[in-house]
Amino acid sequence: MKVCVIGLGYIGLPTACLIAGAGHKVVGVDIKTNIINMLNAGRLPFKEKGLDELFNNVKDNMSFKNQPEEADVFLIAVPTPLDKEAKIADLSYVRKACESIKKYVKEDSLVVVESTVPPGTCELIVSSILNNKKLIAHCPERAMPGNTLYEMVYNDRVIGANNDNSKEIAGRLYSSFVKGKIFYTDLKTAEMVKLMENTFRDINIALANEFAQIAEDIGVNIWEAISLANRHPRVNILSPGPGVGGHCLAVDPWFLIENSSKSKMISLAREINDSMPKHVMELVKKIGVPSGETLTVLGVAYKRDVDDTRETPALKFIRIAENEGYNIKIHDPYVKEFEYPILDLKEAVTGSSCIVLLTDHSVFKSIPPDKIACFMKDKNLVDTRNCLDHNLWVNHGFKVKVLGKGDASELKLSKL
Ligand SMILES: NC(=O)c1ccc[n+]([C@@H]2O[C@H](COP(=O)([O-])OP(=O)(O)OC[C@H]3O[C@@H](n4cnc5c(N)ncnc54)[C@H](O)[C@@H]3O)[C@@H](O)[C@H]2O)c1
Repeated sequence: MKVCVIGLGYIGLPTACLIAGAGHKVVGVDIKTNIINMLNAGRLPFKEKGLDELFNNVKDNMSFKNQPEEADVFLIAVPTPLDKEAKIADLSYVRKACESIKKYVKEDSLVVVESTVPPGTCELIVSSILNNKKLIAHCPERAMPGNTLYEMVYNDRVIGANNDNSKEIAGRLYSSFVKGKIFYTDLKTAEMVKLMENTFRDINIALANEFAQIAEDIGVNIWEAISLANRHPRVNILSPGPGVGGHCLAVDPWFLIENSSKSKMISLAREINDSMPKHVMELVKKIGVPSGETLTVLGVAYKRDVDDTRETPALKFIRIAENEGYNIKIHDPYVKEFEYPILDLKEAVTGSSCIVLLTDHSVFKSIPPDKIACFMKDKNLVDTRNCLDHNLWVNHGFKVKVLGKGDASELKLSKL
């Protein structure tokens, strides 16, 4: 098949390479000229495990352009950000992508939407832009940055299709590179499934965050409590932390509820997770660091061992801390571009009164507290991920506060 992939970002580009690797002819399209120039020069615009090698093997089957062209399949993988004011999906990129392919889509061409969209988008918006008579499928992406290629191949996939023809063509395309099982349904169900998956995780994390705050109040170590509760064969509580980030978890729950008035729990979970950066600020104050002091933020990526800072709760924490009069210095060995300067570790801790660990990058575990203590003004550590060896840090003179770890001696049973 000839496949035109619209949007060559974290999802579109690896997908395009896998499709090319399965022997299809791929035309990659992006509106960003720098991305097209880089790819045509044989370079990747971002890093992803295994992508370099795959790209080098398949690039002869691929071409990269600013404009779509006729193809058997059009695969749309453009952004679907959240309109932060209205808390609804911003579908402008999807609309523009559909407009851009409209004149190239033939009667028997399939249009696959991979972008995450609110239920009804494919049936109502995509279909109407494409004059209602086209073959449409929705194949939401479940891959996780850092492990994208493996997951794109081995995860099970859900394909929603608007008729048997769409189902057959989409099935042929995906089964040519997916080794996981493929399940078929209608368009709207596939859209909802993707949103439910991320909403489930967001609510689970909100529950963990609520547990963590209760544990702080009653003097329990939530990390120990969760690991014990998870010994139950049907319980799997996720980890608390400084909030939820990334392209999916902090965004998708809003897409699920934008056309329904029946949700209570989903928006409450969003509220709880969004409030965590403020809670981390309270922990900094509780450890005794007054405003005017410098805080070192360790990690601004939204999750471990990746450079992705989209929707990162770190940004919210930094803004809250600055509003409260703290100076902020940031160290993140993965992140190259951020709204604030990224410093090396020594520079970031020099003159600092408190390290606030927000991302549990593996390399942070080997930071030697004795080597950095001498550069700090005061030795305080707030660990929001239970990432470091706290005894070691205490032994080197640090005062340590861990999110979700209540101090048993401070227990006040106000209701008894
Ligand atoms: N990144 C993830 O981990 C992930 C996981 C699951 C689902 N998704 C979903 O996949 C979709 C794509 O996400 P992403 O992370 O790849 O985004 P991204 O921002 O990395 O890439 C999107 C690309 O689309 C391009 N683009 C925008 N409008 C275009 C147009 N009209 N024509 C051609 N190119 C256009 C942009 O220039 C950009 O390069 C989103 O809906 C996202 O929610 C992402």
